[in-house]
Amino acid sequence: MKGKVVLAYSGGLDTSVSVNWLKENYNMDVIAALVDCGQPDDLNEVYDRAVSSGVCKAIIIDAKDEFVNDFIFPSIKANLKYEKNYPLATALARPLIVKKLVEVADNEGAEAIAHGCTAKGNDQVRFDVGIRSLNPKLKIIAPLREWNLSREEEIEYAENHGIKINVTKKSPYSIDENLWGRSIECGVLEDPWNEPPEEIYKWTKISKNIGDCEYIELEFENGVPIAIDEEKIPLIKIIEKINKIAGSFGIGRIDMVENRLVGIKSREIYESPAAELLIEAHRQLESLVLDRDLVHYKYLIEEKMAEMIYYGLWFTPLMDCLKKFIEESQKFVSGIIKIKLEYKSFSVIGRKSIYSLYDEKLATYNKEDVFDPKHSESFIKIWGYPYEILGKKGRINGKDMER
Ligand code: ARG
Repeated sequence: MKGKVVLAYSGGLDTSVSVNWLKENYNMDVIAALVDCGQPDDLNEVYDRAVSSGVCKAIIIDAKDEFVNDFIFPSIKANLKYEKNYPLATALARPLIVKKLVEVADNEGAEAIAHGCTAKGNDQVRFDVGIRSLNPKLKIIAPLREWNLSREEEIEYAENHGIKINVTKKSPYSIDENLWGRSIECGVLEDPWNEPPEEIYKWTKISKNIGDCEYIELEFENGVPIAIDEEKIPLIKIIEKINKIAGSFGIGRIDMVENRLVGIKSREIYESPAAELLIEAHRQLESLVLDRDLVHYKYLIEEKMAEMIYYGLWFTPLMDCLKKFIEESQKFVSGIIKIKLEYKSFSVIGRKSIYSLYDEKLATYNKEDVFDPKHSESFIKIWGYPYEILGKKGRINGKDMER
């Protein structure tokens, strides 16, 4: 009897050619599993493409709610961005896809999982490490890593084998999409000096003009967005709505060079209007309702979490602990944030909360002021002693001279 392999199928170039290759090189039955994390593809078409590529079975798994609840909620609560910019859309979906693949492998009695990741990317790490954590018995096959084809050669292989793909040599972008964002790489983008051509953008096609503006209000409860413009709708709908409105202003484009786990730098373009807005709104709400120590300490946790997710370390004891810290920090993160959308930019222009720690009587410069200036002098006197002592010893700027 032939062995079975579950292939993480997306319908993209890499996974499409992998079906054929697995059959030719491993002589296994291929089960294509497509995990739906909110990518706007026509899933019926992708399903048909999988079936026509010669798999023995194709399965579509709707993981959208789980993606929102277990990955996007924590991302907002932890303001997650890798290297301060990338909202981690691709990276976040990987552990969920892995979890689903392992479930399919168990249900189908498969002995291996295959993925279409190349040897240069981060995704291979996320898949491999995730699979090994959840079921160390499974064999992992990465056709493109073993095979080592250039993208042109892959396209040629697909053409020669009659495999239907949605990429041409002229438009050679590698794209990954889910509810949280769209990642674009390859082609002319590989030269970091090249301006990204307008044609690469899909979620942020601009239909507004300079001078146009629009306001939106976002309401949060315990760190989670619950309403947009006073309309209480599920987060998935809020995300879709923001992507549409903010996207039409060209908001949410990110152009960055990032450090991959495999040691190289890569130039990547992201479109993530909802992630950009929601994280910034959430962060500004935290500035209003959380105390200074917590805000500052939380930065460290956030950065660590973002890095771990990027590095494929979702299924780890440390990640579980960090998530608990973040959860605990959100008890009072409830309130409303007002945002102004403009041509290619947005800003938070108002905030309010019943848990606000902002005390206008202490902050004001007018006559209602209750801040007693005489306390400041004594406070600074004591707080500044260590530095005054260093100054007296001449130990500033690395010098050592008694004054
Ligand atoms: N650089 C990002 C990451 O490692 C995105 C990779 C997305 N892949 C793509 N085909 N554009 O998470």
